[in-house]
Amino acid sequence: MSNEPEIRILSTPQELFQAAAAEFLALASAAIRDRGKFTVALSGGSTPKSLYSVLAKAALPWEKIFFFWGDERHVPPDHPDSNYRMANEALLSKVGVRPENVLRIRAEEDADIAAHDYEQTIKSFFQLRPGEFPRFDLILLGLGPDGHTASLFPDTAALSETKRLVVANWVEKLKTHRITFTYPVLNHAACVMFLVSGGDKAHMVRTVLEDEQANLPSRKVQPINGKLLWMLDLAAAGKLSKR
Ligand code: 6PG
Repeated sequence: MSNEPEIRILSTPQELFQAAAAEFLALASAAIRDRGKFTVALSGGSTPKSLYSVLAKAALPWEKIFFFWGDERHVPPDHPDSNYRMANEALLSKVGVRPENVLRIRAEEDADIAAHDYEQTIKSFFQLRPGEFPRFDLILLGLGPDGHTASLFPDTAALSETKRLVVANWVEKLKTHRITFTYPVLNHAACVMFLVSGGDKAHMVRTVLEDEQANLPSRKVQPINGKLLWMLDLAAAGKLSKR
């Protein structure tokens, strides 16, 4: 990996989510102090739900925090699989975030339309010039059992996208589209935080972090001018050689 990631290993899942929340709070406070707002792209799946629940108890200037998503399933916002729905139930609805601070992917639309619309949302929010990429203060990511992250799955078209910010990515093994950030967006972030819990991820964590030959989507997340942080519990870090 070009820029060595910072790896933090916490003893238990509870300590992991507390530490991740503390990092979130620190990054948010610094961004709000320096630039008046904090832009964060949330991850989906099951792992981050515990982090969002911890954050729901935190005292933060929520009106200065703007929530995006790094990827979304191709489902309506009230669908059980929706990453938006999970975050809204675990965090956003609990802390009363204003609607204008929630910039979700409109995945109820045609996938390509949803991706183009989200791209426009990001371009106007960050006031991007043509060819420019947004610099999110924080992008949260998870790690899939096949080494995917966001919805950048192995052997999918999105892996080779270098111009678009957001694409509709057909995932053959799931027989569905996913809407996802591309590598340029991930790698322009100020901080990317992988949050991984559980022994079932230990083999993939070791492969992504230690196997130089591994050709896995998560290995290509390497912020150009930002921090790469892997936050793991002991179980997820169980197969790392250097701990
Ligand atoms: C998604 C996520 C995906 C997730 C990993 C890990 O939409 O599912 O973006 O990349 O982070 O699949 O998921 P778990 O946390 O459920 O193991």
